[in-house]
This record gives sequence, structure tokens and C-alpha cells, in this order.
Amino acid sequence: MTNILCIGAGYVGGSTMPILASHCPEDRIVIVDINEARIAAWQSDQLPIYEPGLDEIVRQTRGKNLFFSTDINRNIAEADIIFVSVNTPTKTFGQGAGRAADLQYWEKTARQILENSTSSKIVVEKSTLPVRTAEAMERILNSNGNGLHFDILSNPEFLAEGTAVRDMQNPDRVLIGGRETESGQKAIARLVEIYANWVPRDRIITTNLWSSELSKLVANAFLAQRISSINAISALCEKTEADISEVANAIGRDERIGRYFLRASVGFGGSCFKKDILNLVYLCEHYGLPEAARYWEQVIVMNDYQEARFAANMVTSMFNTVAGKRIALFGAAFKANTNDTRESPALEVCRALLEEQASVVITDPHAMENAGYDLRELAQRVIFEPDPYVASNHAHAIAILTEWSQFTQLDYERIYNSMVKPAFLFDGRNLLDHKKLYEIGFNVYPIGKPPLTRLVTYGFKQA
Ligand code: UDX
Ligand code: UDX
Repeated sequence: MTNILCIGAGYVGGSTMPILASHCPEDRIVIVDINEARIAAWQSDQLPIYEPGLDEIVRQTRGKNLFFSTDINRNIAEADIIFVSVNTPTKTFGQGAGRAADLQYWEKTARQILENSTSSKIVVEKSTLPVRTAEAMERILNSNGNGLHFDILSNPEFLAEGTAVRDMQNPDRVLIGGRETESGQKAIARLVEIYANWVPRDRIITTNLWSSELSKLVANAFLAQRISSINAISALCEKTEADISEVANAIGRDERIGRYFLRASVGFGGSCFKKDILNLVYLCEHYGLPEAARYWEQVIVMNDYQEARFAANMVTSMFNTVAGKRIALFGAAFKANTNDTRESPALEVCRALLEEQASVVITDPHAMENAGYDLRELAQRVIFEPDPYVASNHAHAIAILTEWSQFTQLDYERIYNSMVKPAFLFDGRNLLDHKKLYEIGFNVYPIGKPPLTRLVTYGFKQA
């Protein structure tokens, strides 16, 4: 039996470890966190994160070989392998503010491991960290001359929220980076054994430490770059009457380009893309590569532009003013099937509309609580309404900001009848049947396609 510990019971630790537990019934897995409320939630029927399929796996493993605890020190002492998945947000102060990762939690965790260890251990970086962080961790852990040895591995997480269970059950690849020393190679082999319980060997890639750390940042940067690329083209489509879905399909059929991740949208969000690109930009600058830094920075510039452009288009289309107008935002989560609102474009659009003094109503099937927290400073100015029919009642406009399938099943005729006319619908995810909405009476503004409107809009052909 291997004693496995995971420090950090957030999205990453909380969604990966139960699956590991289910595939390694012989091993004992403990997840610890400094946040007592979070641990209590993991022990209850109401898990702190919404992730399809996760509840069932937690129910099957909890109390058998999966445990949640706030006793970090004792569990460190008992562990053979420690995964670290504490958060590493972008620094808000000092050197590298706004770009570099804030490593204070991570370093505190490394020292805590050192102080409480009485046996040698394998420490696995699961948090996304700047390249060469493993080296620093190695120095801290192996610096005390107490005869203990720590092998540091990098095992970045590639799962996407909303499909975490599927991604972890059946990953495209598992990446494990380690030292090229004998002991480093042994540690890699031990972690490979654990994953091999359910992942085919040929999908487990082993590399040196730094390749593994860098690959994580680069994977996210490439994914985000595709979205910014297609969004840049969506702006061009809106000016030229080309249709972004047709363009995406036409280019995606080239196998070298591939068809995934070409959905034009109001912008990308989530805790990883922006943070990881900023990290990459910082690294490039640090190593004296300003041109490479500017190249990657542009992916974020484009995303900010897309969010701002969407909100500005709403204002322009609604006769250049939304002041006092009720606008229903359908969706707050940064994508469907998650309650996560970190860096959500929906909240950016909300803030932009509030600047214009609109009266904003937000509805979302799972992310209202997090949205309420994020917008707490603006709480008096935003209405949170769980029922989309009530949210859109007497509204001038609806904006689709998250691609929840629930929104496709609504009775839009009923919604249209309850709205102020002319009724506007801005589809930031190209989720709905635009022609049908237009026939009901809506003025429809998709992303990257000509609007379907009975109003004369300068520069656009009327439908
Ligand atoms: C985050 C980032 O999103 C991801 O890119 C990175 O790889 C790891 O950190 P996530 O799991 O989504 O992953 O973060 P979050 O949900 O904030 O969870 C981190 C957890 O660590 C929190 O529950 C926090 O309480 C806990 N923590 C933090 C500790 O237990 N100890 C600490 O010292 C700091
Ligand atoms: C991402 C990576 O996919 C994952 O491998 C990594 O481990 C963490 O970061 P995640 O942030 O959970 O996962 O979601 P993802 O599905 O990648 O979507 C990110 C954002 O891009 C969302 O806001 C989504 O709506 C948007 N998106 C995605 C688009 O706008 N268009 C697309 O075609 C795809």
C-alpha cells in the first residue's frame, strides 16, 4: 500500500484524487487543505465543486481509501508520495506584479513538508508553476542535512473543468517529468506504476523536469491562441458577411489544423489560460526574449478586445444607450458544466454594462453563488435570478454568455412575449437557432455572423 497525500482540495486536487482513489483501491489517498469549510464540504453531500460524475466517485471511495482532512502535518508525516496542488495565482504586488506567479503558498507548503517529514518522499508538482520551480523546491527540501531525500516530479494537470472526470479517466496523455539521476528515474517509475493502473502505458510520457513544466504552460498557451485566432477572424466576419462557423468548419477539416477549439466566442475565461500565458510572457522577458513575450501577450490583448467588443456592440446596437435598460445575462460561469466563474467573460461583460448604467440581471444554473462573490462590490446593482423566464421578463435584451444546454431548451416565444420591444438577443456563444429566434421577432446578434435584424444597422445588410 502506498500512502498518497494531496495538499490543496481545490478544483485540481479535488477532481483528480477521487478518480485516482477509485483506480488504486490498494492505496490510501488523503486530501488536505487549510480551508476547513472546504474540507467539511468535501465530507458532506454538497461537494464544493460542480463537476459532472464526480459526486458518485466521491461517494464510492470516501471513507474506504479516500479521506479528507485539515491535519496537514500528521498526513505529511505518513505520506510516501505528496501531490501539491495549492493555488499559484498571478502576483499582485512587487516584482513581476500582474505577470509572474505568486509562489508564497507553494513555498510555504514546501517548508511544511520539510518540517513534518520523518522519511524520504516523492513530491509531485501538480500546480502549474513557472519553469524551474521544481529546482527551487528541490533545494528547499534537500537542504536540511537530516538524511532524508526528496525526489521532485512534475506531473501537470491537463483536465478541463466540466469534463474533468472523463479527462482523468481517459487522458490523451499523462506527463511525468523528473531528474535524470538514478533516484529521479526510480521516482518517475513509481508514479508511472500508479497511473498504469488505468492509463495505457503508451499514453504516459516521461521527460526531464523542465520540459514537463514548460509543456503545461505551452499547451494552455496554444489552446488559448487558437481561440484568440478564431475570435480575431470573427470580428472580420462581422464586417464582411462571411460566417465564422463556415470558416471554422472549412479550415478545421484540414487535419493539420484540426477541428477542435475553433468555436468563436465572447472570449476565453477560466483560471488557467490567462495566468499561464502571463507566466510564459514573464519567462520570455526574464530570458531576454521581448519579441517572443510580445507574441504571446497578444493572445490576451485579443481576448480582452473580444470581451470589450461584445459589450460595445450591445450598446451600439441598442441605439447607443443601455442606461436604465434591463438586460438579462444568461450565464456567469466561464464555460458550461462548471460553477467556476474565475476570469469569466460573462463577468467582464456585466461590468462593462454596469459602467453604461444598465440594469443587469444574471441567471445561471450553477454559478450564481460564485458570481455573487466575484461581483460583491457591485452587489446592490446586480440582480441574481435563478429562473431565466423571470430574468428576461421586461428586459430589453438577453446576452448568452455561457453555453449551458439548459438555455437551448427554453421557450423563446414565451420569453419574447414578456420582453420590451424591440427585443434584442446577443449570442456570445452562437448557441441558439438564430433563424428561429429572428422569426419569433428577436433582433439577433451572433458572433462572427451578420446580425438578423429588422432594424437598420449601419454597415450591415438587413436580413
Ligand atoms: C489552482 C490553479 O487553477 C491551477 O492552475 C494550479 O495548477 C493549481 O492551483 P485549483 O485547484 O483550481 O488550481 O485552485 P483552487 O481551487 O484555488 O484550490 C487550491 C486549494 O489549495 C484551496 O482549496 C486552498 O485552500 C488550498 N491551499 C492553498 C492550501 O491548502 N494551502 C495553502 O497554503 C494554500
Ligand atoms: C483548460 C485546458 O483545456 C486544460 O487542458 C487545462 O488543464 C486547464 O485549462 P479549462 O480552463 O477548464 O481547461 O477549460 P477549456 O475547455 O479549455 O475552456 C477555456 C475557455 O475557452 C472557456 O472560457 C471556453 O468557453 C473557451 N473556449 C473553448 C472557447 O471560447 N472556444 C473554444 O473553441 C473552446
